[in-house]
Amino acid sequence: MDIQSVRGFHDIFGKEARKFRKVTQTARNLLERYNFEEIILPVVEFAQLFQRSVGETTDIVQKEMFVFEDKKGRKLALRPEGTASAVRAFIQNKLYALRPYTKLFYEGPMFRYERPQAGRYRQFHQIGAEVFGVAEPHADAELIKLVYDILSELGIKGVVVEINSLGCKEDRKRYREALLSYLGGVRGELCPDCVSRMERNPLRVLDCKVEACKSATARAPKITDFLCEECREHYEKLKEYLKALGIPFRENPHLVRGLDYYTRTVFEAVSDELGLTLIAGGRYDYLVEELGGPPTPALGFALGVERLMLLLPDEEQKRDVYFVIPFGDVHAYALKVADLLRRLGKTVEYSYRKGGLKKQLEFANKLGVRYAVIVGEDEMRNGEVTIKDMKTGEQRRVKLSELEEGKLG
Ligand code: HAM
Repeated sequence: MDIQSVRGFHDIFGKEARKFRKVTQTARNLLERYNFEEIILPVVEFAQLFQRSVGETTDIVQKEMFVFEDKKGRKLALRPEGTASAVRAFIQNKLYALRPYTKLFYEGPMFRYERPQAGRYRQFHQIGAEVFGVAEPHADAELIKLVYDILSELGIKGVVVEINSLGCKEDRKRYREALLSYLGGVRGELCPDCVSRMERNPLRVLDCKVEACKSATARAPKITDFLCEECREHYEKLKEYLKALGIPFRENPHLVRGLDYYTRTVFEAVSDELGLTLIAGGRYDYLVEELGGPPTPALGFALGVERLMLLLPDEEQKRDVYFVIPFGDVHAYALKVADLLRRLGKTVEYSYRKGGLKKQLEFANKLGVRYAVIVGEDEMRNGEVTIKDMKTGEQRRVKLSELEEGKLG
């Protein structure tokens, strides 16, 4: 076929699809245990929403958004992330009027025009959670615990939770000046991107992956030394709570995140093995107000489904499948047998394979089914089926009436 999928957009099937569901089900179960409520958000928003929240000078907005015009010339974007949409929905639907605080989660595809590589795609999937209306650090600690629980439940090891505080607007202003004066001294060592970042968004220089920039910024002033009393207190409390919860974490003063809306706490769960961030988030105490809502402190995180999938082992399908083999012109009877088994709660595949019994059983083996249920003319006449245990090879005739009584084993 000459039409292929678009670069960076993937089909997910077979064992990969099973991993996808394992990640999303595990996360959803935990989110429900933490009593988050689902919000199903649109995939398309006005591009302006992301310009005003994620930030004009970020890579996401400058280089990575899929932007297009609709028939009326309005500038729309495929969402690159979910927080901006969740905030928009929170304001638009006046969710702030319903409860003193609100806990939402969402799941779905996000789109970023990045250079595709392992763990980085142009369409990828996130599950995100957002808490609106809580300023205190125990909410930050609980959210990080939730992240930690998701990783533990998935059995993913070798992950470090890194934390940092970006302070409030005033702290950032003071820090920015100190950082700029430091960067001025090492300007000659920085990559061209970082030189232009210095003007647009100097904090992002700390996040550069180029070795020369990493060593040039190793001795840069730390933002945590510039926190005001309240922000410092918030950060100290968070660390105290994380210790009480037994969550191992590492402070990383260079953790600045690639989105502009963050204040105070930021965190990332990073895989040592992959060198990739799996789950990331933080506080964004001004964003709701900046987008036109009432002043509302908020925080959240998002996990990358495909990134977590990279760390899961391959798994066979574990269901015990009953493979009904109609043998001869017995469909009227065999279809009813399959129906009965399903009503008994079994997973049933009705064979569409053509051919003799030997071929059928070979195919059953290939599918890895647990029981072959052979339904031939003799079985039909006697109101019976033959059940073959594919593991032990043991075979027995069973009356349908016995099946109905649930005597199946
Ligand atoms: P983010 O760090 O941009 O944060 O993305 C969160 C996660 O999405 C990443 O840690 C990664 O697992 C996954 N991810 C990002 N880009 C890609 C990609 N191109 N391919 C595969 N996976 C990717 C946010 O999106 C924020 N909205 C998180 C947040 C929620 N902060 C507060 N609330």
